[in-house]
Amino acid sequence: MASFELGSVSIRMYAFDLINTEIRERLIPLLSSAAARQEVLDLQDVFRRFSFDNICKFSFGLDPGCLELSLPVCDFALAFDSASKLSAERALAASPMVWKIKRLLNIGSERELKEAIKKVNELAEGMINQKRKVGLSNSNDLLSRFMTSISDDRYLRDIVISFLLAGRDTVASGLTSFFWILSQHPEVVSAIREEMEKVTGSSQELPSYQEMLQMHYLNAAIHESLRLYPPVQFDSKFAQEDDILPDGTFVPKGTRATYHQYAMGRMEQIWGPDCLDFKPKRWLKKGVFVSENPFKFTVFHAGPRICLGKELALVEMKTVALAIIRGFNTVAEDPDQVPRFIPGFTATVRGGLPVVMQEKERSLKIHRQPTSILLGQPLPSHWQIDDCNGSKKACMCSFGGYWSLRMAINCCKY
Ligand code: HEM
Repeated sequence: MASFELGSVSIRMYAFDLINTEIRERLIPLLSSAAARQEVLDLQDVFRRFSFDNICKFSFGLDPGCLELSLPVCDFALAFDSASKLSAERALAASPMVWKIKRLLNIGSERELKEAIKKVNELAEGMINQKRKVGLSNSNDLLSRFMTSISDDRYLRDIVISFLLAGRDTVASGLTSFFWILSQHPEVVSAIREEMEKVTGSSQELPSYQEMLQMHYLNAAIHESLRLYPPVQFDSKFAQEDDILPDGTFVPKGTRATYHQYAMGRMEQIWGPDCLDFKPKRWLKKGVFVSENPFKFTVFHAGPRICLGKELALVEMKTVALAIIRGFNTVAEDPDQVPRFIPGFTATVRGGLPVVMQEKERSLKIHRQPTSILLGQPLPSHWQIDDCNGSKKACMCSFGGYWSLRMAINCCKY
């Protein structure tokens, strides 16, 4: 059912609209604010908040508002992080006996894990109950679609949790690595901008879905980044029955088989002698993106259990990348930073990705005005936000002679 829903065109368009709304109303104002203050921002944290809001809106029709300008603490996200981290740490124990004994005695990390899982379960159940109260008709989100045909609450709760796990950290991780790698390759940023201008002309609007499909170089750059920095670095399966692999290897029932996407993306036998280089053009033939066999590019897994959210994830990554690259220069605080990953289900960079955002000249100088305060002016369309009275206008202040969205938002608060 998930495969059917996620594959439909209507759900992709629905997801695209949600992503654009989150970009316009939260991501760009937040980045503009950080740029105006020249403050260091952890892009990894921003992407995690972005993708959490987005997966909750998309999957459950609920908005946790994690990317609000104040960067609020989100209970659900915290409990979720804690449960994922503690479960992943089980694998680091000297022997599984260690965590099993701790679990039996309900002590230490196992006690914390139990509490975090309880909280995640309660919050997920809360979501399902809230959906029931609000009603399912006129809702496009996945949970409402599932709830029309599934009545087992425990099963629904597990669906909620799996979608959060599958769709949140993965996208944030992919975007973090992408922006880190771009900070090392300004020539790729220029090529993406060039392509964007070719496709969208001088339009200030966020690119449409159709326009994005024409951006082959961007798609290539994102795939190349995922190849070198896959969000899921390795993946294991347990044999349910005795089996024989295609090369004749016998696999007894219960064996754990692991493949390592991170290592496979860097193997000369698979990608050639330049396997360690970041070369988006390896994905292009005569300027057109050509996808690879999923058994070679295993980032989204392959075969019958291939990632169901692959297309959505790529749409989300491309839309966010375009919005940021179009409006900002991203300067890594430490240009020599090399990502080091924390143990976990998805690749998370230790220390995050601290950057300073610089709003691009074009965006910053849109409305140069001499006066100090003007109320009720419509914003340029690509910066439009709902203001406090929801009239699609915002109070605007001049800031050093330039109109600034951050100031606009601050004004609305007074
Ligand atoms: C760059 C982002 C993403 C990457 C790299 C990724 C990668 C993967 C991988 C490797 C698997 C296989 C896991 C396994 O073997 O059990 C998987 C499964 C899955 N993914 Fe993704 N994923 C991404 C984004 C998403 C998003 C955004 C969604 C949902 C909206 C999603 C939904 C799913 C689902 C439902 C499955 C389970 C499929 C099944 O078991 O049949 N993924 N993903």
